[in-house]
Amino acid sequence: MGMIYLQCVVMLLYCSYVHGKKTGALQSSCNDMTPGHQSTAQTSPAPYRVVVGKTKYTGGDTISVTLQKTASKQFRGYLIQARNQAGTKIAGFNLIANSKYLPCDSPKGAVTHTEASDKDSVTFQFTAPQTSQGNITIFTTAVENYNTYWVMIKSDTIIDSVATGASSRFLPNCVLVIVSLFCFHLKRH
Ligand SMILES: *[C@@H]1O[C@H](CO)[C@@H](O)[C@H](O)[C@H]1NC(C)=O
Repeated sequence: MGMIYLQCVVMLLYCSYVHGKKTGALQSSCNDMTPGHQSTAQTSPAPYRVVVGKTKYTGGDTISVTLQKTASKQFRGYLIQARNQAGTKIAGFNLIANSKYLPCDSPKGAVTHTEASDKDSVTFQFTAPQTSQGNITIFTTAVENYNTYWVMIKSDTIIDSVATGASSRFLPNCVLVIVSLFCFHLKRH
């Protein structure tokens, strides 16, 4: 009796595990963007590319982001994120048919597929953040099939037309100076 029960639990867990893949990437894939499949990522150049509609943004711009095949290989699954140079994931994708958000750092931090049909391309609209976030790159993982996938395919950089190196370093520098002054003050007393 106990044995059968255990087998049922294992089966159920296995089913939900497989189900999770067909219906999109899991949260454990947020950082390295690697599916939890047993095989390792392909190291050959990806037969897919990420094309962005703009390579410069100001706050609130809408930028199209297309993942597409470059040869004959279609893809079944994908995980798409926008990140700035510090590696922060930037929300801003809309949803299209058969897609959903994957919470990665924020509730809408990434988008992924909800079904595993073969696809030539998918196009999302990305709304650039209202406040300057530095240069942004789109990172994509594309899954051809369970054992064959390419991780972190990069788009061209979308340059922040507001931020210069100076403005993005201004705030951290300020904090550093204030903390230093504070420590200095403590030391003297
Ligand atoms: C963003 O990219 C541009 C062009 O490569 C570069 O000049 C600029 O310094 C970058 N911004 C930051 C904050 O590094």
